[in-house]
Amino acid sequence: MVDLTVEIAGLKLKNPVMNAACPISRDADAMKQLVDNDVGGVVAKTISVKPATVPRPSMGAVDRGIARVQVLRTVRPGYVVLENTYSGSYRFIYGVLNAELWSDIPAEHYFEREYPAILDYAHKRGAVFIASIGYTPEELALLGPKCASVGVDAIEFSTHYIGRDYKPVVEAAKALREAVDIPIFAKLSPFTPDIPSLVRDLEKVGVDGIVATNTIGPALHIDIETSKPIVGGPYGYGWLSGPALKPLALAVVAQISMNTKLPVIGVGGIMRGTDAIEYFMAGASAIQICTAALIEGPIVFKRVIDEIREWLKQHGYQSILDIRGKALKYLKPEPIRVHAQPPIVDTKKCIGCGFCKQVCTYNAIEMIEAKNGRKASVSVEKCYGCGLCTSVCPTRAIHF
Ligand SMILES: Cc1cc2nc3c(=O)[nH]c(=O)nc-3n(C[C@H](O)[C@H](O)[C@H](O)COP(=O)(O)O)c2cc1C
Repeated sequence: MVDLTVEIAGLKLKNPVMNAACPISRDADAMKQLVDNDVGGVVAKTISVKPATVPRPSMGAVDRGIARVQVLRTVRPGYVVLENTYSGSYRFIYGVLNAELWSDIPAEHYFEREYPAILDYAHKRGAVFIASIGYTPEELALLGPKCASVGVDAIEFSTHYIGRDYKPVVEAAKALREAVDIPIFAKLSPFTPDIPSLVRDLEKVGVDGIVATNTIGPALHIDIETSKPIVGGPYGYGWLSGPALKPLALAVVAQISMNTKLPVIGVGGIMRGTDAIEYFMAGASAIQICTAALIEGPIVFKRVIDEIREWLKQHGYQSILDIRGKALKYLKPEPIRVHAQPPIVDTKKCIGCGFCKQVCTYNAIEMIEAKNGRKASVSVEKCYGCGLCTSVCPTRAIHF
């Protein structure tokens, strides 16, 4: 039996999956759909003292076009064998650009209408409700107590527009800490400087948790048929979220986990349960999702929760705690090795697809005809030990 409950800063979550602040949580009706899809916590769209003036178009998908493929079979979760003649299509999206800023609805409207409506709905269904506010110390000191008096369970404060420097983030945290008694979470952007010192200072100020990360940018995508940028921000710039962001955000989560005992909520590019597992192994206690929900709809939350539960079950774990921070002991300042160590091939697992040979830029892999079919074979003399083949093998047959 897998127990998905987690506790963050005294808040008990029925599962570690929340939405991230974005249009999927723009109002109570939208947030109700997230609760209906079983999220452990709901995070409202960020509000500030002044409503935002949002450039349009405000969102666009960055993709590699439409591939016509057929899934022959799934070899392990997330890895499929494809054939490229088919009867359907699949769109490979690796990111979304947005120029959304924060909410364009006045904060008072949220306090009077949206927050009370979602609070009751979420609590009755066992989900916690977190407000998101920004940005300056003065704005946080004004908005924080209003959120608390409506009864929100916690406040996340965005540092997106003040986080190019380290000190203003600490000042903002201090102001909010002095203004409210409920748990407060600092949401960092991937470009925030000196994250190790920053999170230690945030801990001293009394912040209860860190959310990492927000989007990265400025980023640009041009529609080559019109030669125009896909989003309408200044210079056509937007902020990048989704799968392309995940390795950056994951590195930030690991860095935070190695420098503070504060709980970390991982965000960035989570599309499936195994992405969330990676965040837990990097030290996250819970995760948030935005882009996958924009693309797939709120049903994504149910799917990811099921996939996390199933992965833990299949690997013999009972809870998130069993895997939390499991990768951190391998993240050492020194390199793993600086000599070539060729990978070995498990011929029972090798399906002879040749993908390892295709990616071997050192020409160290040949496909040979063995008794049990076509198999990969590694030349110890030619192999540089780069590892690319081990990371693309669909069955993990080639490994160190
Ligand atoms: C359209 C859009 C609007 C967003 N608005 C906010 C916001 O108001 N406040 C905030 O803290 N983050 C905002 N974000 C960032 C997300 O909360 C999240 O940190 C980021 O998208 C990375 O997660 P993802 O890859 O799952 O989307 C927004 C993201 C998108 C795509």
